[in-house]
Amino acid sequence: MPDLKIIKEFPDNFTFGVATSSYQIEGNSFGNSGLSHWDHFSKIKGNVYNNESGKIACAHLPNYKEDIKLIAEAGFSAYRFSFSWPRILPDGKGSINKEGISFYDRLIDELLENNLKTFSTLYHWDLPEIFMSKGGWKNRDTTKWFADFTDIIMRKFSDRLNSIATINEPWCVSWLSHYLGEHAPGERSIESGVKTMHMILVAHAEAMQVIRSHNYNNAGIVLNKQFVQPFDDIPETLKVTNLADEIHNLWFDEAIFNGVYPSQTLDLFSQYMPNNYEKDLVKISQPLDWVGINYYTRSLIKIDPTESFLGYKSVNGDLDVTDMGWEVFPKGLRFLIERFHNKYSKKIPIYVTENGMASNDVIQDGKIKDFKRIKFYSDHLIECIKLLEKDIPLKGYFAWSLLDNFEWAYGYSKRFGIVYVDFNNLKRIPKLSWKEFRKHLK
Ligand code: FCB
Repeated sequence: MPDLKIIKEFPDNFTFGVATSSYQIEGNSFGNSGLSHWDHFSKIKGNVYNNESGKIACAHLPNYKEDIKLIAEAGFSAYRFSFSWPRILPDGKGSINKEGISFYDRLIDELLENNLKTFSTLYHWDLPEIFMSKGGWKNRDTTKWFADFTDIIMRKFSDRLNSIATINEPWCVSWLSHYLGEHAPGERSIESGVKTMHMILVAHAEAMQVIRSHNYNNAGIVLNKQFVQPFDDIPETLKVTNLADEIHNLWFDEAIFNGVYPSQTLDLFSQYMPNNYEKDLVKISQPLDWVGINYYTRSLIKIDPTESFLGYKSVNGDLDVTDMGWEVFPKGLRFLIERFHNKYSKKIPIYVTENGMASNDVIQDGKIKDFKRIKFYSDHLIECIKLLEKDIPLKGYFAWSLLDNFEWAYGYSKRFGIVYVDFNNLKRIPKLSWKEFRKHLK
């Protein structure tokens, strides 16, 4: 039987938490929220599995106390959540929705009362729909409006936030959503993809400046990293594998920590880059207090002549896959963090801000026996221990996710939670993985 005994090997000051995001759990029809671009995107047939949306999601808004209890009872010491921009500012800017802001007020107080550290994210993908007609993240003005939103959060909440992340997964916000078209707004254009790969970093920089103006000093960004390996060893494959590594990983690392963009990608992107992008790199590379790494899988990179722009596609090898079809490759987590640590800052604290797997969970005799998930967590935590043994400043680990939730384009068909949600009646049922965390965290 897989277990999570490994937890006992972590130092006492290591933070174990769970993560969620606003649009995936809150339910956008509650609390007078404005619309997010996911509300629009999910209305268009074919974008989201079964035409589902985040309208109700896990109805976390009316159930937040019960959800927080589940986090505390399992023995976690931190909760990673995000603020919904349209919930607080239904028009993206201007007047504040009182119900929206008071929800986060109560949520934060409840977390603190339960001795949970508040790890917040300013942008986990719910862009106010109203900005779409103005070009969304392609428009530099959006980065300014994001700065104004950040200022509201700082004024109201910063004294109660243990940590603030500006952007969750800039690669997903830009490339996945504007070139690959899989996430809102679903654009499939080279120009949009390239522009937003830069603009989302400008948004990060603008928000950081606001955060610093409030003398706040535990802020960072959350990067999703993909471990890429060549499908074969012919030179052309090695070349495109480096390109994939740059687009997924090094584009963001190099810009944020060295103030430059990596050359192979920049050559390819240059004709589409916004004017004077170089000037932005100075503020994009301002110092951070920590970095968050989200890790799920690896990719094999294979030459693909039908992909005329990049020349490659990502394929699977022969490893076990999760319900998302993602290969399970725990070592990748260690390789990526170790490389990041060696290449950039030897001192900057690192958190695993998301790690987890989807499985096709079912209730049997009132129980959800998600053994594969327990093994998944255990195998990845073993890699974290190896990092600590090398004195890498890994400070915490957040399981994705507390609840089964709205998994973006997959709707409710993919279950990542350590707590099962019955979407017919929204009942929460802790899975065995939740119980296993409780057993070793308590
Ligand atoms: C990450 C997202 C998160 C969730 C997991 C499965 O890319 O940050 O919201 O969807 O994947």
